Amino acid sequence: MAGMQMTENRAQWLSVHPLVVRMTHWINALTVLVMVTSGWRIYNASPLFDFTFPAAITLGGWLGGALLWHFAAMWLLVTNGVTYLLYGLLSGHLRRKLWPIKPDAVLADILDALRGRLSHQDLSLYNAAQRAVYAVLILAMISLVISGLAVWKPVQLQELASGLGGYEGARRIHFAAMALTVALVVVHVSMVLLVPRTLGAMITGRIRRDS
Ligand code: HEM
Repeated sequence: MAGMQMTENRAQWLSVHPLVVRMTHWINALTVLVMVTSGWRIYNASPLFDFTFPAAITLGGWLGGALLWHFAAMWLLVTNGVTYLLYGLLSGHLRRKLWPIKPDAVLADILDALRGRLSHQDLSLYNAAQRAVYAVLILAMISLVISGLAVWKPVQLQELASGLGGYEGARRIHFAAMALTVALVVVHVSMVLLVPRTLGAMITGRIRRDS
């Protein structure tokens, strides 16, 4: 009887995020920060549009420094991203957590989120709006890498570059994918701040479920 009582009172820990996902997620967050801020500095040296990014929020100090940061972080971004995608595809993680994505469910969840009515009962599952944001983020990052390769080596990778509208076209795609990534990360981090217990789970991997 006493034993039963103990089991009933013991908090249950539920694993929600595997170690590989947590490691690659946080390495990615840091790498994206370095890539974006050094990218803004590179952009400032030859702006595509009528504006430049304030120097204070850029990394590298000057064009050469920013390029070094960008190219150094690029290797980490790609190896880390490939690790996440391979793990996600082979283990079934991506299929289990991000699939299916049904447009009407995404819309319904976004509307609920705006009304502050989205349920966060079960942190082991992503809602439809989250799944859509994560899937688009992953696709935006893949576009960033592909267009980035074309901007980096437009001569050696001529076929890739011409498929993206030449060097100039690839630069525009690279910029658009960056803007989409930054916008979605702002939404993503705002959502995390609204439901802060998701942050602990993404660090420790576990959530506490009191019985
Ligand atoms: C300071 C920055 C960031 C914070 C605090 C943060 C926080 C989190 C948290 C707490 C989760 C789990 C959400 C939940 O359990 O409901 C998560 C998942 C995720 N985040 Fe972030 N994140 C950050 C940056 C990023 C960046 C830069 C990206 C991509 C460009 C990103 C992409 C993702 C993806 C794809 C998932 C789903 C991972 C999976 O289960 O496979 N995050 N993030």
